Amino acid sequence: MRPLFILNSRLELCASLVRKGVRIADIGTDHAYLPVWLVRAGIASFALACDIKAEPLKAGEQNIRKYHAENLVETRLCDGLRSVKSDEVDDIIIAGMGGETIVHILSDSPWIKDKNKSLILQPMSKHELVISYLYENGFELKEHKCTFADGKIYTAFSAFYTGNAKPCSELFSYTGLLTKGNENGLKFLASVINHLEKKSHSDPHFGEIAKEIKERFSL
Ligand SMILES: C[S@@+](CC[C@H](N)C(=O)[O-])C[C@H]1O[C@@H](n2cnc3c(N)ncnc32)[C@H](O)[C@@H]1O
Repeated sequence: MRPLFILNSRLELCASLVRKGVRIADIGTDHAYLPVWLVRAGIASFALACDIKAEPLKAGEQNIRKYHAENLVETRLCDGLRSVKSDEVDDIIIAGMGGETIVHILSDSPWIKDKNKSLILQPMSKHELVISYLYENGFELKEHKCTFADGKIYTAFSAFYTGNAKPCSELFSYTGLLTKGNENGLKFLASVINHLEKKSHSDPHFGEIAKEIKERFSL
């Protein structure tokens, strides 16, 4: 059997948030590296590799065959979670998409409001929209991590449903569970501050949030 390939550190970050022994759905799977890797590494017992487009799914299917994961990974052409049933999966991964798209996918499938499910989310932009959506809709962050890949810093978090919807402060929506002791987390926040300071030229409010983050994290 072909040796298991090495995930890039962004996908490795997502993999590290998946619970052991669960069935996963990877929404927007593209190349299907994550579901293939998770089942072959023995972390996931089954995976649904889903994508809205047929072309990426074809690439995913090739990788599933290449790494002999046909028995454990099923592909599905679908928009978000629309064709995934609640009793098919435990952990849901949505990685490599903008925060707005992730929020759209989450809000489109109310069945994910289930205390037994875990969401693993890796927004490429506007992570603050995802975090505020989660809290305002009864979810809580469980783990929050950051990593470097190809010279860029990325963030990913896991979340679960508590049923306790609450307002999310703007500061928390940007910083989540990151702490001063988290080296990559501080680098991620430095990039967030940089981005907010650029936006403050057109709206001074972003400069105020940047200042709050700097003060809170001594950056
Ligand atoms: C940039 S790729 C990310 C691939 C992989 N998840 C990763 O993190 O490396 C985004 C993928 O999401 C798919 N996608 C975008 N919107 C989607 C949706 N609403 N439902 C399912 N897939 C979607 C795209 O077709 C594309 O293959």
